[in-house]
Amino acid sequence: MASHVKIDLAMSSMFPAIANKIHEEFGRLDVLVNNASILTDFGKHPSLIDEDTYRRVIEVNQIGPFLLTRALTPLLKKSSSARVVNVSSQAAQLSQLSDMHSPWRDDICAAYQSSKIGVNANTVLFAKELEPFGIKVNSYCPGWVDSGMNLEELPEYGENVKLKTPREGADTAIWLATLAEDGPTAGFFTEREAISW
Ligand SMILES: NC(=O)c1ccc[n+]([C@@H]2O[C@H](COP(=O)([O-])OP(=O)(O)OC[C@H]3O[C@@H](n4cnc5c(N)ncnc54)[C@H](OP(=O)(O)O)[C@@H]3O)[C@@H](O)[C@H]2O)c1
Repeated sequence: MASHVKIDLAMSSMFPAIANKIHEEFGRLDVLVNNASILTDFGKHPSLIDEDTYRRVIEVNQIGPFLLTRALTPLLKKSSSARVVNVSSQAAQLSQLSDMHSPWRDDICAAYQSSKIGVNANTVLFAKELEPFGIKVNSYCPGWVDSGMNLEELPEYGENVKLKTPREGADTAIWLATLAEDGPTAGFFTEREAISW
């Protein structure tokens, strides 16, 4: 059975009603994929970003998924093997960002990268808390995917980037959403392989 509810991640006051609706219709939640995001600060270094943009990106990308996961935690606990998948980005790998010689050194979107580092923090914090309930929480990067997010920026990368289809980009999410009991938790992945934070 399919059902839907529209969520604005910047409106956390809606989240309890969404939890109630899922509770009434299904009684539990087996999989939560925190996928929605905005990227409105491409090329913006920290000193150049305006406050409203910074706050909006953090609100939608990091705080919204945190509060939604919190609101849905009681329903996740009712599942026998719930899985949470947080969609992050390799653009937020601190191991790369802190490398002064990285080829991606100047590809900065200060709010988006900060928000996805926050998403990764959400992952490890919820993973620890929910591990005793058999719930696995992981982050992953889909890679460069042909979606609304990149269309305006891609000319800058030209032929160096081979875009994935949305189906290809979702492959690791599906794997993480259906992990067996001995699968990983508190990890960061791309192409079904662990990567550094
Ligand atoms: N595309 C890539 O190459 C790439 C690379 C690395 C990571 N990612 C990550 O992959 C995920 C999916 O990105 P995408 O490429 O599919 O981006 P997209 O095409 O821009 O889609 C973003 C989605 O987020 C929704 N959204 C935006 N603001 C929202 C809000 N306030 N509340 C609820 N939903 C909201 C949008 O809904 P509306 O259409 O209704 O606005 C849209 O469905 C994101 O987490 C992104 O950071 C993507």
